[in-house]
Amino acid sequence: MPDGQKIAGRVFVTRDLAPPVIQRLRDEFSEVDVWEPYGPPAPRELAERTTGCVALLTMVSDRVDAALLDAAPTLKVVANMAVGYNNVDIAAAAARGVVITNTPNVLEETTADMAFALMLAVARRVVESDADTRAGNWGLWHPGLWLGNDVHGATLGIVGLGTIGSAVARRAGGFDMRIKYTARNRQSETEAAVGAEYVPDLRDLLGQSDFVSLHVPLTDATRDLIGVPEFRAMKSTAYLINTSRGDVVNTDALLAALQDGAIAGAGIDVTAPEPIPPDHPLLKQSNLVITPHLGSATHATRIRMAMLAAENAIAACTGAPVPNAVTG
Ligand code: DGY
Repeated sequence: MPDGQKIAGRVFVTRDLAPPVIQRLRDEFSEVDVWEPYGPPAPRELAERTTGCVALLTMVSDRVDAALLDAAPTLKVVANMAVGYNNVDIAAAAARGVVITNTPNVLEETTADMAFALMLAVARRVVESDADTRAGNWGLWHPGLWLGNDVHGATLGIVGLGTIGSAVARRAGGFDMRIKYTARNRQSETEAAVGAEYVPDLRDLLGQSDFVSLHVPLTDATRDLIGVPEFRAMKSTAYLINTSRGDVVNTDALLAALQDGAIAGAGIDVTAPEPIPPDHPLLKQSNLVITPHLGSATHATRIRMAMLAAENAIAACTGAPVPNAVTG
């Protein structure tokens, strides 16, 4: 915008983001409304605060549907602070001329780190043995104590070789893992770059892998991608790692697989439902390592995501090219 001129209109930001991000919005918008409570606005509060806005800056846990968009006919853009946008009804937004944006290329390496953290934690029993040690049970060294399985040299099956999947593959190279992958479309260039072998059939990949790491977006095609037959296809010594979306895995099937030993364990950062209720039986499984959707949760990456979402909102409201508009 020309000096001193601001975007005439309000942006509603659904979480209290880092001060430099809020300041950047204040520099550009005539009005910035920030949701101060720690938790998210309820759907009714979200609709009330969005009404009359030109821009909305959302999190992955905010549902943006036709009803919300209808409550805000002045809205030009929904800038989602996430690479995934399954929380947004893209068709409803397109029908109303509302631009939707996401935050790619700033969080992939951080999320790949998390997938590896879960892989190492569950295979080497880091969480179980930490809890036991804190409980005062560190007895004399014993050759059979807390035995796990090797990550190095194992076969990693990656489902979805996009930017996060390939970042996981690069890390796996450093652990001397055999890397295999499946994807809707073969990624010849990427597979050559990361040294991965393409396995066209998902169940074949599952049967060949010691670790299976999921890196697909949530769509109608990937919902419940991993269910009872897929767990049956996995080795009983294998581990499932999920940093994508909870709904890609059927929760009942995961629970059964962990309970009856169909797989050795799982490391999951996402669940269905999310958040997982505190009395959910999954939380009783000692062969599960679980974290509360922390894939991109580092100081540096969260600032980058928030700033990118802010830039997307500003661009969409000033008529500048929008860096990360998504179309579905
Ligand atoms: C994303 O970017 O989609 C993550 O799940 C949110 O951190």
